Amino acid sequence: MTTTTPALHTSALTSLPLLARGKVRDNYAVGKDRLLMVASDRLSAFDVILGEPIPGKGALLTQMALFWFDKLGDICPNHLTGEAPESVVTAAEIPQVVGRSMLVKRLKPIPVEAVVRGYLAGSGWAEYQQNQSVCGVPLPAGLKNASKLPEPVFTPAAKAEAGEHDENISYEQVVVIVGPELAAQIRQLSLKIYETAAAFALTKGIIIADTKFEFGLDENGTLTLMDEVLTPDSSRYWPVEGYEAAFAAGQNPPSYDKQFVRDWLEALRINGKPWDKTPPSPHLPPDVIEKTAAKYREAMTRLTA
Ligand SMILES: Nc1ncnc2c1ncn2[C@@H]1O[C@H](COP(=O)(O)OP(=O)(O)OP(=O)(O)O)[C@@H](O)[C@H]1O
Ligand SMILES: [Mg+2]
Repeated sequence: MTTTTPALHTSALTSLPLLARGKVRDNYAVGKDRLLMVASDRLSAFDVILGEPIPGKGALLTQMALFWFDKLGDICPNHLTGEAPESVVTAAEIPQVVGRSMLVKRLKPIPVEAVVRGYLAGSGWAEYQQNQSVCGVPLPAGLKNASKLPEPVFTPAAKAEAGEHDENISYEQVVVIVGPELAAQIRQLSLKIYETAAAFALTKGIIIADTKFEFGLDENGTLTLMDEVLTPDSSRYWPVEGYEAAFAAGQNPPSYDKQFVRDWLEALRINGKPWDKTPPSPHLPPDVIEKTAAKYREAMTRLTA
């Protein structure tokens, strides 16, 4: 679907003021109270932006987030305005925007990454091996890499400055940052959204192992879901059929997220040494780019079939 559009590493709209370039999205101001979020085809791994864009990725991420916002509308208000992104740029700029953008309410971001884990992977697995808990939540003994948790846990992280890695924090630290009421509301909503989405995804043959939400406050102080939601960039998506065998072998289950690129980068040797995960990133060979693009397409197809 989207590979016919040329890959976009960096957008360059001149009709709107650029507010920020994130790792993936370029955010432009639309008046005082709205944002145009353009999802580029950039891919970040280990918080480093890779040089090569992944064709079709930005559009797929945006379409997937829109799919989930629609599904989750009853649970939580979100940042969508319902207006077309093409309506706020010039005709010449439409090709940069179409299919890959969201026109959203500009919220006051809450500086907490609301992570929910249903399975033990990544930094959760690393932390568990140290002290049998994740973000201060004690877990049963004997869990392995990719184990399903007895129930989903809220494992927040502090949103890092550009170029820094997010840092896992305890629930008590969330209370210090946002206050007890908002902290409780964020935890409860995050768990509910995760549980609803994970149950739906499972009917499509996808395990959502973990995910990260971002929230903001609107002009009335209402807690509102923002950013991207439940995409393979913000979540670990595992096809069910690959899970059991990988789990039994103690390996990372094959995934629709960028674990594929991460594993490739981990295995890479530059003059005999692993990449130190600081910029500049190694160049991705064409087959890794294409396989990564195919993973994103497959996840979308499966989810929405
Ligand atoms: N409705 C909204 N109002 C205000 N900010 C938002 C909204 N939705 C998303 N954002 C912010 O826009 C940015 C999206 O860009 P992107 O996902 O590329 O950033 P990131 O790499 O995850 O984080 P960073 O901005 O720290 O680099 C994030 O900083 C996110 O917090
Ligand atoms: Mg982001």
